[in-house]
Amino acid sequence: MFDDLSGKVGLVTGASRGIGLAYATALAEAGMKVVLSDVLDEDGEKAAAELRGQGHDVQYHRGDVTDEESVRALAAYTAETYGGIDLLVNNAGIWGDLEFASVFDISSERWDKSFAVNVKGVFQMSVAAARHMEGRPGAAIINQASTAPYIATPRTADYSAGKAAVITLTKTLAKSFGDLGIRVNALAPGGIATEASLNKSVDLFADAAVAQQCVKRAGQTSDLIGPLMFLASEASGYMSGQTLVVDGGKTMTA
Ligand SMILES: NC(=O)c1ccc[n+]([C@@H]2O[C@H](COP(=O)([O-])OP(=O)(O)OC[C@H]3O[C@@H](n4cnc5c(N)ncnc54)[C@H](O)[C@@H]3O)[C@@H](O)[C@H]2O)c1
Repeated sequence: MFDDLSGKVGLVTGASRGIGLAYATALAEAGMKVVLSDVLDEDGEKAAAELRGQGHDVQYHRGDVTDEESVRALAAYTAETYGGIDLLVNNAGIWGDLEFASVFDISSERWDKSFAVNVKGVFQMSVAAARHMEGRPGAAIINQASTAPYIATPRTADYSAGKAAVITLTKTLAKSFGDLGIRVNALAPGGIATEASLNKSVDLFADAAVAQQCVKRAGQTSDLIGPLMFLASEASGYMSGQTLVVDGGKTMTA
């Protein structure tokens, strides 16, 4: 069903570990040429080398999504290496390093850093990549949102507000890039068991939390792969500007 992805070019940000690495791996396994990008160079180089060892055509290239020059250089590198960009996955986010904190303890510096990565990063990476995606059949952008805006937990005010902005940005980018033939959608995962999530001071996967879901188990990175492939491929060719919630049925948004 996702055969149309084979031979195409993907760029995944925040791909050195966690969900981003799972996304990059799945896209490479679907036959895509993939650039993994992150600010964690050692982990990223290692992940890319492992994927190449499995026969996949992938590269690692550093890209700090908060830095406009860096994202432009990353988009240009991807286009020069593989001849263009068909799919951008804006996965990089401040999540692993985020402490749960009351609004009284969220500093101005933390707020700015959170928004620089989670919001501005999505915006400027998308604009930089769009220049290399225009007119390519099936071109698509997938933004990593979260169910945090719907739950609006007060312990992550900056994160929840930033991911809400990602959902709105997904709509405005979808309208902005429609004429270029680029679809833009978002994925909003609930709690997904990555190293970053499992190391939190709050147990996101406690029995009481899982009991609130319709699907009575913790979410895994593998649960996001089907939705990713759907949004990346022509299977979702008539969808743009939408956010797909993947959280075991915990959050019901409509
Ligand atoms: N794990 C979850 O429960 C969950 C749920 C919903 C959404 N998300 C989102 O999914 C994404 C990945 O989450 P994860 O659990 O794998 O966490 P993670 O912290 O392991 O992954 C985030 C990645 O982004 C990278 N990154 C941070 N700042 C960057 C920058 N300036 N430029 C480029 N890369 C940068 C990090 O180095 C890391 O590799 C994040 O956007 C997160 O907000 C996670």
